[in-house]
Amino acid sequence: MASKRVPSKQSLAIHLMVVGFTGVALGVLIGIFISWFGFASRVDAELWRLQVVHDRINRPRGTEGLPSGIVVPETDLYQRRLWGRPSEDLPDSLPKYLAAFTIGIKQKDMVNQAVSKFLSNFTIVLFHYDGVVDEWNDLEWSKTAIHISIPRQTKWWYAKRFLHPDVVAPYDYIFIWDEDLDLENLDPLKYIELARKYGLEISQPALEVPWGTEPSWRMTKRRDDVEVHNSTEEKKGRCESPHRPPCAGFVEIMAPVFSRKAWRCVWHMIQNDLVHGWGIDLNLHRCAQPAYEKIGVVDAQWIKHRKVATLGEKVQDRCRWEWDLFKSRFAEADRNETASIPPA
Ligand SMILES: *[C@@H]1O[C@H](CO)[C@@H](O)[C@H](O)[C@H]1NC(C)=O
Ligand SMILES: *[C@@H]1O[C@H](CO)[C@@H](O)[C@H](O)[C@H]1NC(C)=O
Ligand SMILES: *[C@@H]1O[C@H](CO)[C@@H](O)[C@H](O)[C@H]1NC(C)=O
Repeated sequence: MASKRVPSKQSLAIHLMVVGFTGVALGVLIGIFISWFGFASRVDAELWRLQVVHDRINRPRGTEGLPSGIVVPETDLYQRRLWGRPSEDLPDSLPKYLAAFTIGIKQKDMVNQAVSKFLSNFTIVLFHYDGVVDEWNDLEWSKTAIHISIPRQTKWWYAKRFLHPDVVAPYDYIFIWDEDLDLENLDPLKYIELARKYGLEISQPALEVPWGTEPSWRMTKRRDDVEVHNSTEEKKGRCESPHRPPCAGFVEIMAPVFSRKAWRCVWHMIQNDLVHGWGIDLNLHRCAQPAYEKIGVVDAQWIKHRKVATLGEKVQDRCRWEWDLFKSRFAEADRNETASIPPA
């Protein structure tokens, strides 16, 4: 007959202690869990609230009364039909590049040759500075191009008003070119391939100049030993440093190509009243940092400048005056900016 073990008083006490301790520990754990869970969900709620506030603050200015789902902050230049379903208006592959030319009918042949290089993969925008539009109608590409006709304005005046970054947002690269260029040796798609390959945010095709002559800036002169270059040696005294414009981080305003990102910055730098754009080139480096790497000249794709018209004396005076104004405005803005940073 098995004897029934009677627990001693001592082991009962130990048992009670173990049970008690376990209970307390469990309680503490549950408490920690509940409060952590509460804390975590409070953090979640706070993060969510911050996100909502952030989204509201970052809404396009003036849209506070609209639900964000209906706000369309960017647009494009793709042309739609007046009938059918909107979702079926556009072809599957849309141009990712934009080429804008400022043109007059006197240069019709030259412009025709130039624009013909850009078909199919480009949206073409034409700024007519002489107000003549109908006389381009016989050219096939003219039917799908976007014509903007406002007499006697400059390339930078048009660009500021009609190429707002939110309007040209779908385009990876934006060409803003003059009309007097010989593009015989240029393939725009190959050009873009190189700009992409070398990560150039701002670029231009190299300039081939007649033998024995020099371009206004040596940076743009074509080299035949490289695909692209990003610096040059200038005449003595022109460059503060070999990494600064016009020895590097520099292209001219005759045939610039901007990435979407760089254009957003450059557009903001263009002044409404300084229509000739003089001095913009020397400040492009502000919009593509480090400029020494992100601004360059594409040698493998090159152009010639045909220089059709020389500027009248009064216009030249204004150009120089604008340049001075731009310089002093920039210097003052820089000073203001530095002054407005609170001391540490
Ligand atoms: C250029 O356009 C053609 C025809 O529209 C298209 O098939 C091709 O993918 C485009 N190329 C680039 C680089 O966008
Ligand atoms: C441009 O400059 C960078 C920085 O010095 C250099 O590493 C790069 O090789 C240059 N690119 C070309 C194409 O010369
Ligand atoms: C610089 O600051 C002054 C004083 O606030 C202001 O009047 C001026 O317009 C500013 N200029 C520029 C270019 O930022």
